[in-house]
Amino acid sequence: MELLTNKIKKLFSENINKIFENDFSDKIDIQNSTKKEFGDFQTNFALVSSKLIGKNPREIATKIVTEFEKNEIIEKLEIAGPGFINIFLKNEFLNKEIKKLENEKYDFSFLDTNKTVIIDYSSPNIAKRMHIGHLRSTIIGHSIKKILEFLGIKVISDNHIGDWGTQFGKLIVGYKNWLEKSTYEKDPIGELERIYVLFSDKAKEDPTLEESARSELKKLQQGDSENIKLWKEFIEISLKEYNKVYDRLGIKFDYYYGESFYNDMMPEILKELKERNIAKEDQGALVVFFDEDKLPPAIVQKKDGSFLYATSDLATMKFRKEKLKVDEAIYVTDDRQQNHFKQVFEIGKMLGEPYDYKKLHVIFGIMRFGDVIFSSRSGNIIRLVDLLDEAKKQVKQVINEKNPDIPEDEKDEIAETIGSGAIKYFDLSQNRTSDVTFTWDKVLNFEGNTGPYLQYTYVRIMSIFRKLKEENFTLENKEIVLENMDGIERELAVSLLRFPQFVVKAYETLKPNIIAEYLFDTAKLFNNFYNSKQILKEENPKVRDARILLAQKTAFILKQGLDLLGINTVNRM
Ligand code: ARG
Repeated sequence: MELLTNKIKKLFSENINKIFENDFSDKIDIQNSTKKEFGDFQTNFALVSSKLIGKNPREIATKIVTEFEKNEIIEKLEIAGPGFINIFLKNEFLNKEIKKLENEKYDFSFLDTNKTVIIDYSSPNIAKRMHIGHLRSTIIGHSIKKILEFLGIKVISDNHIGDWGTQFGKLIVGYKNWLEKSTYEKDPIGELERIYVLFSDKAKEDPTLEESARSELKKLQQGDSENIKLWKEFIEISLKEYNKVYDRLGIKFDYYYGESFYNDMMPEILKELKERNIAKEDQGALVVFFDEDKLPPAIVQKKDGSFLYATSDLATMKFRKEKLKVDEAIYVTDDRQQNHFKQVFEIGKMLGEPYDYKKLHVIFGIMRFGDVIFSSRSGNIIRLVDLLDEAKKQVKQVINEKNPDIPEDEKDEIAETIGSGAIKYFDLSQNRTSDVTFTWDKVLNFEGNTGPYLQYTYVRIMSIFRKLKEENFTLENKEIVLENMDGIERELAVSLLRFPQFVVKAYETLKPNIIAEYLFDTAKLFNNFYNSKQILKEENPKVRDARILLAQKTAFILKQGLDLLGINTVNRM
């Protein structure tokens, strides 16, 4: 099915081009009305075309409104303000459109969707348990993936794990000196974390430790078999731990090409950088300088010959284009890496093919913690697993109070879904570039703009359908007859039909919070409707059927929207 805005735009183009005898199609923009009184949609065409047409906006608007041909879609047009046109849609038209929901696929062919995009997200650094710093990348990246796929874009997901670098020298020193074998067997990642922290503490007093770490790292880089074995072991242990979290979040990656995967490709890239004079020797290191002084120089090879983060990203860019045949790449990391990506994208441009293709750095702000206290909290690291466990625990308490009769294992499942959904929703409902403060009250509140509120709205609808099942009600051959209804039903119907517009907007800005806001608004409309109208008890069968259908379409849209945020729904809670 075509998006409402596209349908209206087409109609306006036809009319306007005829009236003004010229093609103005690309000047016509159809917006949601900001207020109910302004109709369902608005256009500012008369304002933006005034110079082109050589008439004042009001004249243009009047001409359009009076000469617009009769049609099946628009009920009436009204001139507003200096030259806006308010658009009111016909109820019969809305009826027809609403019925298509769930039965017809959206037509997104007006977008450029015939492409392959790689999304680089989550990407934690090995040998440290995944902590909250990676939460946002994981959750935001996953949602962006879902949104692009929904539009029909081919997406490749790559977890670019930090599996190479100085931390391995330190871990190997710690392993060889202070490892407690029995703890390591029981809780390998915990023990790795412990020796890593221990290293930092001890190195403050004993500077020779840093020297040992460097020499262990060097041995690893030169292929020393013992160190290679340890390195592999650390990676395996960490991935096992990460995968537990990904499983709980319902996230899968196509690839886990970490930094080390690109080791062999780096010498060749350095050679090219040097030969083409893009990188220059500077105090023994190899450095790329940039024209604008805004961007600091990027080191691509250290004095000791080792490669850097930037070097591996250059190799990654090349590999993705040549081997994975991507058209675009999206990187999701916190905003502190802005310079890094500006630098490597810039070097990509200098290098040209195959490095030079569309790349976007999707940034997000810091997440701070307000009232988060954990029993098992170690050091200053807030662990994602603890966060998920705590959310689950708190949701389960609510279920125990509200619905004690649900079987225990179902309660657990529901609590897990609502709990992790609440954390995801909290993250995704924020404008991603802002810093946010996490408090349980904001995350788990059953009222307000939260995951649980949306889940609860969905569950409400599911309970209507459980009751309908008992009376063997079927929706087949039922109609939504909005003529029989007043404001709130119509408003809800229009809102449901707007869903794909918001998905497109979220795609264009790579901001999932646009979908979250839409879902919240729609859920509020539904709850208004639910609280002010009878549904099951309504006596007029036509009105009753229409309301039931509207509830069903609302559930469909809520579920689909939450899915784009990576959130599953439950049928009761
Ligand atoms: N491992 C890095 C970190 O935790 C993020 C990697 C992002 N992706 C990339 N291609 N550089 O900071």
